[in-house]
Amino acid sequence: MTFKTRFVCNVCGYESGKWYGRCPSCSNWNSFEELRIQTSKKGFAQNSLNIKELKLEKASQIKTTSQIRISTGFEEFDRVLGGGIVSGSVILLSGDPGIGKSTLLLQLALNISGKIILNNEKNNKNKKDNRHADLPSDGISASHENKTDGILKQVQNDKRKVFYITGEESSSQVRLRAERLIASNELEKCELFIVSDTDIDNVMALLKQHKPSLVIIDSVQTLQSQNYPGFPGSIPQIRNVCSQVISFAKTENIPVFLIGHITKEGIAAGPMLLSHMVDAVLYLEGEKLSGTRILRAFKNRFGNSDEVGIFIMEERGLVEIKDAANFFIDKRTDAVSGSCVAVVMEGSRPLLVEVQALSVPSSLSFSRRVATGIQEKRLELLLAVIQKHAKIPIDKLDVFVNVVGGLKVLETSIDLAACIAIISSYKNLPVPPTVAISEVGLLGELRPVMNLDKRISEARKFGFKNIITSKDHKSLSQVVSNM
Ligand code: TYD
Ligand code: MG
Repeated sequence: MTFKTRFVCNVCGYESGKWYGRCPSCSNWNSFEELRIQTSKKGFAQNSLNIKELKLEKASQIKTTSQIRISTGFEEFDRVLGGGIVSGSVILLSGDPGIGKSTLLLQLALNISGKIILNNEKNNKNKKDNRHADLPSDGISASHENKTDGILKQVQNDKRKVFYITGEESSSQVRLRAERLIASNELEKCELFIVSDTDIDNVMALLKQHKPSLVIIDSVQTLQSQNYPGFPGSIPQIRNVCSQVISFAKTENIPVFLIGHITKEGIAAGPMLLSHMVDAVLYLEGEKLSGTRILRAFKNRFGNSDEVGIFIMEERGLVEIKDAANFFIDKRTDAVSGSCVAVVMEGSRPLLVEVQALSVPSSLSFSRRVATGIQEKRLELLLAVIQKHAKIPIDKLDVFVNVVGGLKVLETSIDLAACIAIISSYKNLPVPPTVAISEVGLLGELRPVMNLDKRISEARKFGFKNIITSKDHKSLSQVVSNM
């Protein structure tokens, strides 16, 4: 058996026959790693010799099966996935260390391996007592059924075995975490099995033998194979782990969740390469101190990729916020200075978010601009517009802007609310509860945003009467003169 050497960029996966100091594809420095590939005697990669005759099928004659989805037990999670977990899919969950990935997936494992069924039994019992025992007997959740195009199912009693493979923590650590999340008498009834190992070949053999209904791998960077070069987490190892997992998921029709870490820069070797291979990529994000966690889909082969799920980290795990529309605002009725409410679209849902600002004279030679929840560059731009078009000398002030609740807003519809909050703080001018929905252009003009009517009606629903948009105001200076 012979080997040939290839070099692979550990950021974008670019492959080449020679080593580069800087990747020609993604321009990262020192990202190339050596990869040894098994070849046949003639020098071809070995698996290219196993040629089999392919079957040609006409598109119209291909049989389709209705997609069956399993409920995660969280409505928020189901929505992000496009209506539950599709059988045989491989889903990557990424996020900063300590953000709650292991907690979220352990809760999901507990839900599927027992808790949903225990809850349903409890509900059914209560319903029977109330003479309304109309839940379908096959376990299909009535409350979810209408929300998806596929069939959303809760796993049957005999098919709820969940395997949690942990390479990061010991089995006893996972058990302790599980006991923090549910009562120990409930944990006893869960068909949850913990495997603490880092050898992917052993893990695969176990999975093929037992065929559980769901597999969670925590994390993909800790698993390795003795047959591949490199440390755990290196490109050859990650690529091998991922392709073994994908082929297992597709042949056995069993869904697999992979946990992957991201670094401070936002991307890391593994997840970037993995995201091309898996069916869905989810990110769990949030400010660690605030407790709010946002679950986002960045890629989803089985649903919309712009849906978000909102959770809050509590003493006993993540709790979903089902009615998030006014979760990010302080419910006050008096006028305060330095606050304004915006309406942002997160997926198909409008969310009301409060923007707070503080502008104070700077004691430094150049003033500070600190933004949390909006991009710092956007804040710089808005301050320049305020200076030039609203004629407010803001350049000698320190300006701090914060989106309440830890939400990160990338939309420009929050521009006007940020400007009003900043100007109100500068002028020390209390404004009554106000909603502002508009992008602010470089000429100081207000620009329309998508789904304006939907946003306005959401603001009205929560009792806001003072709503400023590009429909009734042409420019920022016009808004300021009416303040
Ligand atoms: P964890 O799931 O270990 O994060 P990750 O897998 O993304 O690295 O989450 C760890 C944090 O969550 C830790 O700071 C403790 C906190 N936590 C709670 O606040 N409540 C809980 O019930 C649990 C299990 C963890
Ligand atoms: Mg973890």
